[in-house]
Amino acid sequence: METVIKIDNLVKAFDGRRVLDDVSLEVYKGETLVIVGGSGCGKSTLLRHIIGQLKPDSGKIQLFGEDITGLRESGMDRLKKRFGMLFQSAALFDSLTVEENIALPLREHTKLDEHIIKIMVKMKLNQVGLRDFGHLMPSQLSGGMRKRVGLARAVALDPEIIFYDEPSAGLDPVVTAVVDKLIIDLANALSITSVVVTHDMNSVFRIADRIVMLYKGKVLQIGTKDEIRNSKNEYIQQFINGTIEGPMQFFAPDEGYLEELTK
Ligand SMILES: Nc1ncnc2c1ncn2[C@@H]1O[C@H](COP(=O)(O)OP(=O)(O)O)[C@@H](O)[C@H]1O
Ligand SMILES: [Mg+2]
Repeated sequence: METVIKIDNLVKAFDGRRVLDDVSLEVYKGETLVIVGGSGCGKSTLLRHIIGQLKPDSGKIQLFGEDITGLRESGMDRLKKRFGMLFQSAALFDSLTVEENIALPLREHTKLDEHIIKIMVKMKLNQVGLRDFGHLMPSQLSGGMRKRVGLARAVALDPEIIFYDEPSAGLDPVVTAVVDKLIIDLANALSITSVVVTHDMNSVFRIADRIVMLYKGKVLQIGTKDEIRNSKNEYIQQFINGTIEGPMQFFAPDEGYLEELTK
C-alpha cells in the first residue's frame, strides 16, 4: 500500500502544554482515514501540521513522500495544489457568487481559459448536487448547501488528498448524512485520499476505512471500524458509547463550592 502522509513522533506544545504528544500515523493512498476525539484533544492542530500551517516542536511530517517539516512557503505552495480542504465554517467569500467561489482556486492556481473554468465549475456544482444554484450568493444558502459549495471548491483542482475539519459541525442528522454520502461518493468517484476530523460517531462508522482515536494529544489506537468497535481500550469504549462513566475526565460541578460561597 502506498503511503501519502507519514507522521513520526510529532510533538507540539502551546504555552508549555503538550497538545500533540508523540503522534505517529500513516495515511494510505485512496483510503478515508477518520481522526476522532473529544473537543480540545488536538485534532485540528494535527490537521494544521499536515497542511503546513503549523511547524512541530519535534518529529517529522511527510506529505507525498516529501519532508515538509523544514519546507519553506514556496515549497508548501507547490504541494498545496495537490490537496483540498473543507474547514468547519466552509469559509466562503460572501461577496462572491457560488460559481465565483468555486472558480477561485482555478483562477488562482491555473492558467486555464475562462470558458474552460466555467465548464469545470459547472461539473463540480453538478457533483455536489447544486447544478442550478451557481448564481446565488452564499447568504442565500442553507448550512448544508454552503458545506457542499465548500466541498465543490475543495475539489476544484482535482486534489489527491482532501482534508475535512468537522464537516458536519452545526448540521442536523439528515444533512450530516447527506454530507457524509458526498464525502464517500467523492472519495469513490475521484479515488481521492480523505482525512476527516470529526467527533460524530455516526459519521465515523459511515465513512471511515480506518480510524485514529486521539485523547489529550496522544494516539490511543489506529484501526478498522471493527477493531475500534471491539477495542478493549476503556477510553475508546467510553467515547464511542458516549457514556459519563469511564476513565475520561470531564468537568463536574464541585459539590462543596456552593457551601463555600454562601459561608
Ligand atoms: N494557536 C494556539 N495557541 C494556543 N493554544 C492552542 C492553539 N491552537 C490550539 N490550542 C489549544 O490546543 C488544544 C487542542 O486544540 P484543537 O487542536 O483545536 O482541538 P480539537 O480540534 O481536537 O477540538 C486546545 O486546548 C486548544 O485550546
Ligand atoms: Mg477542531
